[in-house]
Amino acid sequence: MTTPVPGFASHDEETVRRDDRDHVFHSWSAQSLIDPLPIAEASGSYFTDYSGKRYLDFSSQLVNVNIGYQHPKLVAAIAEQASRLCTIQPSFANDARSEAARLIAEVAPAGLEKVFFTNGGAEAVENAVRMARLHTGRNKVFATYRSYHGATAGAISLTGDPRRWPAEPGQPGVIHFEGPYLYRSAFYSEDEAQECARSLQHLRDLIMYEGPKTVAAILLETVVGTNGILVPPAGYLAGVRAICDEFGIVMIADEVMSGFARCGEWFAIDRWGVRPDLITFAKGVNSGYVPLGGVIISDEIADTFSTRVYPGGLTYSGHPLACASAVASINIFKEEGIVEHARSLGEDVIGPGLEKLALKHPSIGEVRGLGVFWAIELVRDRETREPLVPYNAASADAAPMGEFASACKALGLWPFVHFNRTHVVPPCTTSAEEVREGLEILDQALDVTDRYYVGS
Ligand SMILES: Cc1ncc(COP(=O)(O)O)c(C=O)c1O
Repeated sequence: MTTPVPGFASHDEETVRRDDRDHVFHSWSAQSLIDPLPIAEASGSYFTDYSGKRYLDFSSQLVNVNIGYQHPKLVAAIAEQASRLCTIQPSFANDARSEAARLIAEVAPAGLEKVFFTNGGAEAVENAVRMARLHTGRNKVFATYRSYHGATAGAISLTGDPRRWPAEPGQPGVIHFEGPYLYRSAFYSEDEAQECARSLQHLRDLIMYEGPKTVAAILLETVVGTNGILVPPAGYLAGVRAICDEFGIVMIADEVMSGFARCGEWFAIDRWGVRPDLITFAKGVNSGYVPLGGVIISDEIADTFSTRVYPGGLTYSGHPLACASAVASINIFKEEGIVEHARSLGEDVIGPGLEKLALKHPSIGEVRGLGVFWAIELVRDRETREPLVPYNAASADAAPMGEFASACKALGLWPFVHFNRTHVVPPCTTSAEEVREGLEILDQALDVTDRYYVGS
């Protein structure tokens, strides 16, 4: 069904599958146990396989295609830059790079004016942590258990979730802590205010035990993404900021997933009016049309490297093609009001739609989120909150979630599934009508998870 691409032998489904199986080594996978679906094309909120079956993408790939697929203006900007200048190394100045940095600083909180570009999120985290260590002259970094920060050596050590385990022993000086999560409170809290106060006290206690003067940074996802869409309670981020100020610790907001309209703001942290010292970004900055990430740097930390060398760099830091796509993407976000659209989708369509599903499906323990960043947490019993599948479930243990995902796919919806949750994270440009279409499919697929419900 697809038009052959000149120079590509792999244009029919069978050849793509065969060459993929024979030559592509996939991430996070036992190579012979996977069967990647070949994708032929994509547009807006949908992608299409080689049989012509179309999927409404409720995952935005890896929660990165915020602007939707094949936005014509973004594609044109990349083509235009490609025809002008594809590549120039980082020590030169370049218009695409300067403009991208200027626009990113403009939408970031005031006082964060400089951008260090990377190729993605993990490298952004590596560099943010390096900056914090050099700025403070300290080594330890705090990060939450329920987190993912990337797969490079430092970022995977900082990651709290089980993807860290095979990489251990990791980098020394990483301390994990419990962030707020009222539905499964580590602190037996009964409401948001308690959860906020107790989780801040826990963080403060750990800093005391570790030695405040040894701590360089607290790294946290402003709204935890893959590990649960955990929206912090009111006052939590301000509380972390206050702890950082008290002890001279750098606050790093990892906005790789939560930034660029995902939470109905330019950066999720805008919602709470808190100014971190460093912000890491990637994904939504240009929706992954060309790989790009980076660190937005406060004036204080930038000053540290004003007359002192910053010991870090990448051949492709500030790559013109990637930067031109960020420029175009940010301008499109402004022209089309994508941040505002994302906010209203959350408030008017996704949030109310999920609440309705929760009334109907007993296996829904909780729905939570904001903007275009939502989770449905599935349980076997609402009373005990026993998760539908255990933490880090695999193979047979994960079967109920696998059946749920298959039901979604059969009905033309591509879901994002993690542990006992499905996340509702379509592109931020998805229309209300398309979201409703997806919610109707979820409604049908949730009958599968209801069958595992044992509560009364
Ligand atoms: C919050 C967060 N930080 C960092 C990363 C790593 O980004 P990348 O995969 O681009 O290295 C991710 C990826 O999902 C992420 O969600």
